[in-house]
Amino acid sequence: MSAPRKLFIKSYGCQMNVYDSERMSEALASEGYVAAESADDADMILLNTCHVREKATEKIYSELGRFRPLKDAKPDLKIGVTGCVAQAEGAEIFERQPMVDMVVGPQSYHRLPELERKIRAGDRALDTDFPQEDKFDHLPKRSATARGPTAFLTVQEGCDKFCAFCVVPYTRGAEVSRPAGRVVAEARELVARGVREITLLGQNVNAYHGHEDGLAGLIRELAGIDQLARIRFTTSHPSDMTDSLIAAFEEVAKLMPYLHLPVQSGSDMVLKAMNRRHTADQYKRIIERIRQARPDILLSGDFIVGFPGETEADFEDTLALVEEVGYGQSYSFKYSPRPGTPAAELEGVDDAVKDERLQRLQALLIRQQRAAQESMVGRTVSVLFEKPGRLPGQVVGKSEYLHAVHVAGGQAGVGEILPVRIMASNSNSLLGEVSQG
Ligand code: SAH
Ligand code: SF4
Ligand code: F3S
Repeated sequence: MSAPRKLFIKSYGCQMNVYDSERMSEALASEGYVAAESADDADMILLNTCHVREKATEKIYSELGRFRPLKDAKPDLKIGVTGCVAQAEGAEIFERQPMVDMVVGPQSYHRLPELERKIRAGDRALDTDFPQEDKFDHLPKRSATARGPTAFLTVQEGCDKFCAFCVVPYTRGAEVSRPAGRVVAEARELVARGVREITLLGQNVNAYHGHEDGLAGLIRELAGIDQLARIRFTTSHPSDMTDSLIAAFEEVAKLMPYLHLPVQSGSDMVLKAMNRRHTADQYKRIIERIRQARPDILLSGDFIVGFPGETEADFEDTLALVEEVGYGQSYSFKYSPRPGTPAAELEGVDDAVKDERLQRLQALLIRQQRAAQESMVGRTVSVLFEKPGRLPGQVVGKSEYLHAVHVAGGQAGVGEILPVRIMASNSNSLLGEVSQG
């Protein structure tokens, strides 16, 4: 028998791409592919791409350029582009990078085996349909190999919100929810393979409607799986934070006290121009209610500076909102005009102004992030240990607030959940000791 072919997948962008990459490698395992150590020893390389900002897209083309020598040395090497750039640019990718063999959009991954056979036969393959059939019904079951204690699980895809700056509704299509029964079945498969924490994914996960009580109903059902210890979800839109979901933070012990709730801007004028469908005050009221339900919740946010028309006063409203809300984690970006989105038609803010605003916002966000992390020192948190740390014997895991926590050797094993007393806070992780009794 010939040696198995080797597959190297590199993921960019959001967690949904991480999940999709796993499902793609499982789909190609049926064609005899095993994981390659690196791009250098692969027979097929897939770049699972992100289109959300210009930089993300350009990174793909420079990465593809770097594969040129590999392809010259091994003409049989197949190169594919998947994900959101594939969906957005389609056949243009072949024009810009003729060595690419295959371009596959996010809704067509279940067709990878047949597309792979096509490119092996020497043809090019392009599939950026939004097919009628549900890819999840056609992908193989989750692979039986043992895996780490945490997993992503996509429950909802696509977005109907059409924020004026965002390509996601175009690259991922309309909102679709997977039926709760299927999600629960996949969760059980994961748990049977050693998973103890599941993060439910969706571009708009709290708009999930595959359960009669929405995402909250799904969470309550998943909480009934005995060996599943922790549940998280991301990313949420403020206008879909239902009462039932907020109540779940109080009532479902397995739902972790961490919420990523992007606001993008603190200015009502900018929020309106962005088509975000809520005001700064409405957002703050939602946060208040969530904090009533779960006072210790750690909040995370996304922010865009320099959206077209944003004035200094608008930007200061964003700083004020950040001061008032207080974020333990955050992601902030300079506005990047994206082809095909309404905001791309508007006159932009000067790049130097964007740079300066981003620096000011990040200085504040980093201060809050450090303070949140340092406030853990002296407290006892619960840690799910995920993998060996960098120092010999060290083990690293995540607290309920998603902080990375290291403990010295011999105190914990991967997959265990233990109380840890936090002794110190480093730049991006905490150091602790497992508490006895
Ligand atoms: N579905 C999620 C994630 C969308 S993309 C949500 O609604 O929050 C992740 C983040 O990228 C967004 O929250 C936004 O802050 C940022 N983003 C999206 N489009 C952008 C653009 N054109 N320029 C800069 N940042 C952008
Ligand atoms: Fe993009 Fe807005 Fe949809 Fe989020 S809610 S994916 S930012 S359009
Ligand atoms: Fe990027 Fe697509 Fe995710 S554009 S953020 S990879 S949905």
